[in-house]
Amino acid sequence: LREAGFEVGRAAVPAGEESKSLNYALYLYDQAIEHGLDRNSLIVALGGGVVGDLAGYVAATYLRGIRYVQVPTSVVALVDSAVGGKTGVNLKQGKNLIGCFHQPSLVVADIDTLSTLPDREYRSGMAEVVKYGVIWDADFFELLEANCKELLKGPSALMEDVVARCCSIKAEVVRRDEREGGLRAILNFGHTVGHAIEKVAGYGEYLHGEAISVGMNYAAYLSVAMKGMTQADGVHIVSLLKDMGLPTKAPGCEWGALREAIG
Ligand SMILES: NC(=O)c1ccc[n+]([C@@H]2O[C@H](COP(=O)([O-])OP(=O)(O)OC[C@H]3O[C@@H](n4cnc5c(N)ncnc54)[C@H](O)[C@@H]3O)[C@@H](O)[C@H]2O)c1
Repeated sequence: LREAGFEVGRAAVPAGEESKSLNYALYLYDQAIEHGLDRNSLIVALGGGVVGDLAGYVAATYLRGIRYVQVPTSVVALVDSAVGGKTGVNLKQGKNLIGCFHQPSLVVADIDTLSTLPDREYRSGMAEVVKYGVIWDADFFELLEANCKELLKGPSALMEDVVARCCSIKAEVVRRDEREGGLRAILNFGHTVGHAIEKVAGYGEYLHGEAISVGMNYAAYLSVAMKGMTQADGVHIVSLLKDMGLPTKAPGCEWGALREAIG
């Protein structure tokens, strides 16, 4: 950016969900003022979903809103959080309770960034990938089933296509229902129980995608029991999650505590 003539200031936050907080937003406002950011400045969110949500929230609120660019570097961020304009931070009462809709001016998706992502984080992100197959596109789901092992090896031309497909599904859902009046809620498939697991187990115990994977197993079970999903479809979903090396159970998370966390 400097070579291109931009004046650049940097601010970093520690890795982990704890950084997605009002405290770190305050830290970034301080940094923004220190670096002299004005209404024409641009924030670049370089990192995973935590950085994207936090930096997006700061961009949405600093000086009543400035532009920002998402440069996602995790699977979750590439296929999900960098697209769609949901920004926010957590409160101790729960995740994403404070936030705004603020669309990035640009998303720079380069899957080569995944080459340094730890294996567990990579697999965790694949839960969100499976989600798109379940909620939107049966052919895509079958492609994931057929290429699961290949996809788990890391960045590849196939993975690039998979990321692009996920982004276009998310963009289509958000185009139809940006403010989650109805349809956009399908993107939360598995997230009701998933978010409760993250909270009950303590943030960081289960990675986001791992918790969502357990939540999708539960949602599939309920869909079969109460909403007419076929048993076979339920089995396909759970098998693909397992093939992706994802958990489908959260031992230690008592149902009573999860119910309370769901609210
Ligand atoms: N805004 C949305 O629509 C949306 C959608 C889905 C998830 N989210 C949010 O995203 C967050 C989860 O995102 P995440 O899974 O990316 O977690 P994360 O941002 O915590 O990143 C996971 C870990 O990987 C590290 N990391 C990221 N990229 C790396 C790379 N290329 N190489 C090495 N290490 C790297 C990070 O430092 C961190 O330790 C949650 O807070 C969730 O609520 C938001």
